[in-house]
Amino acid sequence: MHVKIIDLMVGISGALDLISPEVVGHHRRTAEIATTLAHSLNLPEKDLGDLYLAALLHDIGAFSLKSRIDALDFEFSDIRHAELGYRLVARVPHLQRPARLIRLHHTPWNGIGEDVPADEALLANILNLADRVDAADGQPEHIDRLHRLSGTVFSPRTLSTLTRDILILHHKLGSGSKGSWKDTLEDTIIPQSELLDFADAFSHVIDFRSRFTATHSCGVAETAAALGRLAGLSETETRTLKLAGLLHDIGKLAVPSEIIEKKGGLTDSEFEIVRSHPGICETILSGISGFADISHWACQHHERLNGRGYPHGLLASQLSTGSRIMAVADVFTALTEDRPYRAGMSKSQALEVLGSMSTSGFLDPTHVSLLHKHYENIDTIRVESQSVAMKRFCSLAA
Ligand SMILES: [Fe+2]
Ligand SMILES: [Fe+2]
Ligand SMILES: [Fe+2]
Repeated sequence: MHVKIIDLMVGISGALDLISPEVVGHHRRTAEIATTLAHSLNLPEKDLGDLYLAALLHDIGAFSLKSRIDALDFEFSDIRHAELGYRLVARVPHLQRPARLIRLHHTPWNGIGEDVPADEALLANILNLADRVDAADGQPEHIDRLHRLSGTVFSPRTLSTLTRDILILHHKLGSGSKGSWKDTLEDTIIPQSELLDFADAFSHVIDFRSRFTATHSCGVAETAAALGRLAGLSETETRTLKLAGLLHDIGKLAVPSEIIEKKGGLTDSEFEIVRSHPGICETILSGISGFADISHWACQHHERLNGRGYPHGLLASQLSTGSRIMAVADVFTALTEDRPYRAGMSKSQALEVLGSMSTSGFLDPTHVSLLHKHYENIDTIRVESQSVAMKRFCSLAA
């Protein structure tokens, strides 16, 4: 599986921008603007690439809708999301430098420490400016205001890049242009281990919008990988199952936290919003080249063998082993972890539900039997992986 870093991060930034209509396209626009500003200073290609990646992910640490909208506030001063974003992204060796820029994306020019290399200070300051240009929605009066922050929030060199052309670019991006840096910058293949590191870090962004689903993706990923191994899948297929598990609920970024957290029944319209998440998952993941299997397996986790699943109502003949395993792993993990409306089920309760879903044609009987046969083993793997994920997130957020 060959996945390129920029291609992957453009897809991921699209997922980040789903979180609310107020911020749709913010990461992509900021990335195009920041890279254009840096280019006008004739900075080296490596700087442009790192800045583009940093900008695509810069608000990744702002998990809730509120913190995301706050982050767009012109006078915004809460920079915890910058530190959290740094810690999430820095787990990927190829993204160390973009991570350091993310950490500084709200730090004023006169607050950047002397220990920060001059090139990174400048790039972070450009990212800060591009973020503010987009937050100001390209309004000329706000742009004048940014120019008055010379020497304090922005360096004179950073501000020298802020011309009328940027307003024209912002306007074009706002009217649907995707910009051109994605196709211009040199892209490299991300090593498999780093792809897993990134998916693992990103699963926190997906899951931590509700304490009830805080480690769900990790539990699904490890359960699916364990089932895959028992079913005799190859090492590559097992790794793909794990990646698909980590990302399977990426479409839930588009579901408001109040709905995810709601106790009691959902209204019909709320239920429809929840049911849209696998389709959204497909839109995001199918756009990333090299992600074909991950996309199918992740986005078909609510499809059922009897055709009564969603989003497409696929039939058994259309569902691959990977998709069938993902469905079993998702149901098993959901049943055994605590939810807003009930505590996690015991072994006998969970097996009863899985058994009846298998006999009534919803889940694949082969994989449900495997789970039945190796229950203790798989459940231990699930519990341990979810507790490691919880500890890791707590240390990130500390
Ligand atoms: Fe931010
Ligand atoms: Fe931002
Ligand atoms: Fe789901």
